[in-house]
Amino acid sequence: EVSGARLFAIDGPSGSGKSTTAKLLATRLGLGYLDTGAMYRAATSEYLLRCPDGASQDEVARLVDEARLECQTSPDEPRFSINGRDVTDEIREPRISAAVSEVATNREVRRLLTAKMRDIIAAHERRIVVEGRDITTVVAPDADVRVLLIADPEARVARRAAEVAGKATDAEVTDQVLRRDRDDSTVSNFTDAAEGVVVIDSTFLSPDEVVDRIIALAD
Ligand code: DC
Repeated sequence: EVSGARLFAIDGPSGSGKSTTAKLLATRLGLGYLDTGAMYRAATSEYLLRCPDGASQDEVARLVDEARLECQTSPDEPRFSINGRDVTDEIREPRISAAVSEVATNREVRRLLTAKMRDIIAAHERRIVVEGRDITTVVAPDADVRVLLIADPEARVARRAAEVAGKATDAEVTDQVLRRDRDDSTVSNFTDAAEGVVVIDSTFLSPDEVVDRIIALAD
C-alpha cells in the first residue's frame, strides 16, 4: 500500500488503541513492530525480581545497563526476554503495571532504553512501526509519519478492561490507565502533540479506520 522504507512513530496514552493500531499497521504494510512500553515493562520485571525491597535510582539504572534485553519485532508474536528470561506474559500483570512508572521516570533508564530503541530502528533500516510515549518527540522525531493517538478516558478504561479481562479489577484498571498516565507525564510531556505530529482521536474509529488514516498520511 505504501512503498519504500517508512518509519512510523505512534504515541499515545494507555487504552488509546496504540498497540492494536501499530500492530495492524505493521502487518498491513509488512513492516517490523516495536512496543517500547514492553521494554520499560521488561526492565521493571527484572527490577522487581532483583530488588524486592526497592533500590536507588542509580542501582535501577545500573541493573538496566547490565541487562540483556531481547525484543522481537514481529507484529504477530512480539516476545520479550531479559537476561534470558521470557517475560512476554508476565509484563502484562497488574504488579508490573503498578511499578513501571518508577522505572520509566528514571532519566538514566530512559537514556539507555532510548539508545536501544534507536539501535533496533537502525537495524530495521527504518522499516518499522514504533509505539510508545515519546517516539514522535525524543526517540525518532525524524520519523516519516508521526501520530499521537488519543481517545476519551471512558473509552480508554473500557479497552484496557477488555484486554486484561479477569486479570485485574475495575479499580485496578482505572488506576492503571488514569494514574499512570499522570505519573508518567511528570518526566516529559506525553499528552500534547509536538510540532508536525498528527493527532488522531480513535474514540469512534475501528482499528482499520485508524490505520487507513495513518497510511493516508504516508502518501
Ligand atoms: O504502553 P505501556 O502501558 O505498555 O507502557 C508501559 C509504561 O512505560 C508506561 O508507564 C509508560 C512508559 N513508557 C514510556 O515512558 N515511554 C515509552 N516510549 C513507552 C512507555
